[in-house]
Amino acid sequence: RRVAILISGGGSNMETLVKSMTGDHPARPVLVLSNTPDAGGLAKARALHVPTSVVDHRPFGKDRVAFEAELLKVLKTAKPDIICLAGFMRILSPEFMQHWSGQMLNIHPSLLPKYKGLHTHARAIAAGDSEHGCTVHVVTPELDDGPILGQAKLRIQPDDTAQTLAARVLPLEHALYPKVLRRFAAGDPTPVTLEQ
Ligand code: GRF
Repeated sequence: RRVAILISGGGSNMETLVKSMTGDHPARPVLVLSNTPDAGGLAKARALHVPTSVVDHRPFGKDRVAFEAELLKVLKTAKPDIICLAGFMRILSPEFMQHWSGQMLNIHPSLLPKYKGLHTHARAIAAGDSEHGCTVHVVTPELDDGPILGQAKLRIQPDDTAQTLAARVLPLEHALYPKVLRRFAAGDPTPVTLEQ
């Protein structure tokens, strides 16, 4: 299976995904694509010898259709079977997703369906939740919705801030996403659940 990974920033999730696709793993990374030219993840991908591409969203301004048309064109050249959104910070339109229905995964730093959208760690603390974590799901037209493929959980500590919590969730993302991708690429529907 051919995997394309979309990033916007540091790409730590992309890096763990790429490093996981070795040996008898049923998938291989074929492209890392960023919507920002200065994404730190691009250097990480090049160091791992994965082809990279940039489709900068800024020149397109509000013309989401034109941006997504370019994104689609570049993606199709890589002929991916699976697309992993990993720290990708652009909302994709339902029309775009129709090209990849059932083939696009995303990792979101909350225990979905709780806290769709942004500032998930602060919202979990503000709500007084005792547990938090991250979720990998199949991308559907509704934001941060879609079938859940895996979750990783941890306890929120009394002295946690949004920053300290985010820093403790990120390693869980790195543990969860590769496990989910391996099962998804092998056609194994068993959800992944990790507890810290
Ligand atoms: C992190 O905040 C993570 O929770 C979310 O995207 C952000 C950047 O991750 N998934 P990465 O290092 O670019 O993978």
